[in-house]
Amino acid sequence: MVKNKHNKNPTTLLRLVSTLVGCVFMIHLIMLYRRNYSVDNLEVSSQLLIHHPIVRELERVEEENIHMPPPRKRSPRAIKRKPKRPTTLVEEFLDENSQIRHLFFPDMKSSFGPTKDGGNNNTLHRFFPGKIWLDTEGNPIQAHGGGMLYDEKSKSYYWYGEYKDGVTYHSHKKGAARVDIIGVGCYSSKDLWTWKNEGVVLAAEETDETHDLHKLNVLERPKVIYNSDTGKYVMWMHVDDANYTKASVGVAISDTPTGPFDYLYSKSPHGFDSRDMTVFKDDDNTAYLVYSSEDNSVVHIGALTEDYLDVEPVMKRIMVGQHREAPAVFKHQNTYYMITSGCTGWAPNEALAHAAESIMGPWETLGNPCVGGNKIFRSTTFFAQGTYVVPLPGVPGGFIFMADRWNPADLRDSRYLWLPLIVGGPADRPLESSFGFPMWSRVSVYWHRQWRLPSGGKEIA
Ligand code: GAL
Repeated sequence: MVKNKHNKNPTTLLRLVSTLVGCVFMIHLIMLYRRNYSVDNLEVSSQLLIHHPIVRELERVEEENIHMPPPRKRSPRAIKRKPKRPTTLVEEFLDENSQIRHLFFPDMKSSFGPTKDGGNNNTLHRFFPGKIWLDTEGNPIQAHGGGMLYDEKSKSYYWYGEYKDGVTYHSHKKGAARVDIIGVGCYSSKDLWTWKNEGVVLAAEETDETHDLHKLNVLERPKVIYNSDTGKYVMWMHVDDANYTKASVGVAISDTPTGPFDYLYSKSPHGFDSRDMTVFKDDDNTAYLVYSSEDNSVVHIGALTEDYLDVEPVMKRIMVGQHREAPAVFKHQNTYYMITSGCTGWAPNEALAHAAESIMGPWETLGNPCVGGNKIFRSTTFFAQGTYVVPLPGVPGGFIFMADRWNPADLRDSRYLWLPLIVGGPADRPLESSFGFPMWSRVSVYWHRQWRLPSGGKEIA
């Protein structure tokens, strides 16, 4: 009997363990199913989503075939100025005298916008990433390093960004190319394509040299969120000196989305340096500041106070040692996503997508989200750098990836790349922490020479 008892035990234990493993496996599958297959409140099958004609059009893979131009004769002056001729496509892109510059920065003739199309249905309401984008008055839009606010009250979108319509210069030999601060530009729209200039809603300080926003300083990446408790529109931005050593965030408020915003102060959040940054407002109205810190080597994230005017003391260090910047955060089916860039100044580099179940982390890196173009396009974020991600109305799992194609030779002529971003399908590679299961959906940014929203120019606000 005693012997028998001893004999039985391992089998029972084995059964128990396999039942337990089975249960965990089932729960995992159910969670995966729920994550991938339930869309907001409506349950739709992934088939429907992936094969819907709207999404199919956005997900069409478009190739690009840009090659290095043949070496050209250079004048002694050009050789003296730049002894080395460009040997890579990125160097060619950065060379203001490149023979293929028009491919990256097409001129005014190919500009697009409401004043250009004249009712031509082929181009009307189409985005042309990299071409000059005109506002309702026919002027190039000035909203670089921007962000988007959807305002429930006025049922409008507001696009805020750096108004850089000034002369590009270097404040010293080794300093980054810069434009004096002019302020934050604001544009409004009901369809995300037709943009009306609402003016400079936070302006530079012209005379007081001690002011954070004195024109010789730096104001970058402004983002605005609305606080429904206080009724204030709150702007967070990167403020710096010309050498990027102040490395702080600035805060401004307004009663209306179109300003004027009152500048409140700058600070070192959580006592740290802060350069590229963004703010993200969650469904429960808690807002977060996300910023590149510790000399751009670590990303910091922390909640804002209830009035959105300061940070709470708790902060988490994420992507430690990964040297990421230009963070853009978005959320889909209770998962948080972030797109970041590498740190190469105005020069383009590879984007990465990250995901997390809790916004405070842990965050995991999914890989490069860029699809289409060619290898060099994908490894340079299509020669651009992300700045914000906007949910695409009517397309569950659909977003617009907003990016800047910086033109360091003439910053005011930097271009916008808006491209469809789709969350769906299994991730490229299973992650270690999920026992080999692909925990996250794939995040894909699709290259298009031209594309349009499913709403096709109808008011969606
Ligand atoms: C980039 C950053 C931009 C700007 C630029 C200056 O890395 O994302 O916002 O600061 O450097 O060189």
